[in-house]
Amino acid sequence: MQIKENIEALEKEYQEKLKNIKDLKQLQDIKTELLGKKGKITSLFKLLKEVPPEKKKEVGALINSVKAKFEDILKEFEKQLTEKELEEKLKKSKIDITLPGAWVSPGAPHPVTATLRYISDIFVSMGFKIEEGPEVELEEYNFDMLNIPKDHPAREMQDTFFINKKGYVLRTHTSPVQIRAMLKQKPPLAVIAPGKVYRKDLDPTHSPMFHQIEGLVVDENITFRDLKGILKIFLESVFGKNIPIRFRPSYFPFTEPSAEVDIGCTVCKGKGCRVCKNTGWLEILGCGMVDPNVFEAVGIDTEKYTGFAFGLGIERITMLKYQIPDIRLLFSNDMRFNLQFKGI
Ligand code: PHE
Repeated sequence: MQIKENIEALEKEYQEKLKNIKDLKQLQDIKTELLGKKGKITSLFKLLKEVPPEKKKEVGALINSVKAKFEDILKEFEKQLTEKELEEKLKKSKIDITLPGAWVSPGAPHPVTATLRYISDIFVSMGFKIEEGPEVELEEYNFDMLNIPKDHPAREMQDTFFINKKGYVLRTHTSPVQIRAMLKQKPPLAVIAPGKVYRKDLDPTHSPMFHQIEGLVVDENITFRDLKGILKIFLESVFGKNIPIRFRPSYFPFTEPSAEVDIGCTVCKGKGCRVCKNTGWLEILGCGMVDPNVFEAVGIDTEKYTGFAFGLGIERITMLKYQIPDIRLLFSNDMRFNLQFKGI
């Protein structure tokens, strides 16, 4: 019978072809040639029509078995060729697992950021909440409501950056956040406000942008003793238990009485040196009892409540803590400087 011979010839031809096969691409071609829509085995089924009815069953079974046989063979070839190709690929791409990996710098917080977080943590642990305010601030909050009238010399003293939007300035201190906090929340309140401030100033100890932390506590019966106590705890945790502390009378429009706080010079231990200008003391912060005029501006009852406020410069503390001689180093973005503070 013709069809039987065809099948045998086909089997022989392709057994031979498969012997010389080299890659998966060739295998795929053979698969299409045999089993594709127009493939040779597929078209055998069409010939069935011409087979006499009594032989149909036998021939049909024969074609099916050839089909199954080739499917198995091709599958086996595919498996072997896939393995072979993978092996060759691995042989070619040699990976040297002893080579050191590419170094990626994990980065580190800037020393000012590190100090700011460190100081904030000390106050947060005493129950203070963190408050924020904008750097472009209302002149009214930055000056007027803090008892600094229009013609007050303090406005010049602080060398303000005015911006071309009427009524706004780059805040010259974090004190306007005191106003914001008191407008937002009735006493009792204990907040700190860390952030950037701006003044026209540039020399080894002054930068036109620097950071402050403001503190404000308002409640019934708050006294200067509370202020001293809180600041003592704070200064001792930054500079050590035995740090000498001195309160010196001073003046700020928004506090009355006001004081500046000095610590014993950390460089010469009080003997006198260049850093402390031979005084043995370093000025570290400004503070005082909230002036009743400020309470009146925000509508807090001055008969019932008293409070204290303080403000300190982060850069100054950072420079003392790490003995950095020039504030401009902090903002030069020189990685040789910055990387020295990794892990502090
Ligand atoms: N705002 C003051 C300054 O910039 C510091 C200060 C804050 C003083 C709060 C007293 C009370 O120097």
